[in-house]
Amino acid sequence: MTVRVPAKVNVQLSVGPLREDGYHDLVNVFHAVSIFDEVVAKESESITVQVDGKWSDQVPVDDTNLAIRAARALAKHAGRTYGADLVIQKDIPVAGGMAGGSADAAGALVACNELWGLGLPIEDLMEIAGDLGSDVPFSLIGGTAVGTGRGEQLSELPTGGTFHWVFALANGGLSTASVYAECDRLRAATGAQVPWPQLNDSLMEALGTGDAYALGSNLSNDLQAAALNLRPELAPTLDAGRQHGALGAIVSGSGPTCAFLAIDATHARDLAQSLTATGAAHTAVAAHGPVQGAVLI
Ligand code: C5P
Repeated sequence: MTVRVPAKVNVQLSVGPLREDGYHDLVNVFHAVSIFDEVVAKESESITVQVDGKWSDQVPVDDTNLAIRAARALAKHAGRTYGADLVIQKDIPVAGGMAGGSADAAGALVACNELWGLGLPIEDLMEIAGDLGSDVPFSLIGGTAVGTGRGEQLSELPTGGTFHWVFALANGGLSTASVYAECDRLRAATGAQVPWPQLNDSLMEALGTGDAYALGSNLSNDLQAAALNLRPELAPTLDAGRQHGALGAIVSGSGPTCAFLAIDATHARDLAQSLTATGAAHTAVAAHGPVQGAVLI
């Protein structure tokens, strides 16, 4: 069984006050883009994982691996002991703010559901996914969707066209938990009350009509200031993208990947080339969205 799963960028990430369970209530507008990991599941006695491809040396293959945890959670849900050898072909940056780990968990759920002949409906997989991580349910469905709660309660959004993006990959990752903690620290320092997150209506309209210019000027990420504080070298990368005509430039999720919205596919290719040629990014990848979530191929 081979499942292909996309990366995501958050076109709006509004972070509410810190909750008692250590999470934050969000308005999180997810958008799946055409950078993919593949998860292959083969019959086996026990559950194991192997990671190949880019950055594979940065992914743990022990019990903390999210794909192993996903397969175990699925077997537990089915009430039986199952085995699977999982092989992940990685293309999504590790700890990059693009939901790479969540993608692998979603891929493992879909692949093992098929391998083990469980036939569980997507609703069951979504529930298991939400327990594994806030972004895992979105990786299952893909497309464009608004996430509330921790980000795991989703409603899908129809979009009026394809958007073209460039992603500037950074050296080394950022821990999501530490970026949220830095966000809390910055907020505590100002003493201001944190407002309840609200969906941006202009952003919704831009997505619905497929208006890249309007989408570009409405991109927002409440974690950006925290990510820039932890990785100040990202600020000139964002500036360079804007100077090369990006319609919008933001840190992707908790970073450190930077996302640039381009006018069209040609502009995305040119922008990616300019970012690497000028040294503003060591690697820049063009992609488009929305694309579908975890799918058997
Ligand atoms: O859900 P997930 O395990 O991906 O979250 C990783 C960390 O990110 C959490 O432990 C928490 O510190 C932070 N987080 C948060 N609020 C959210 C989602 C994640 O504070 N809505």
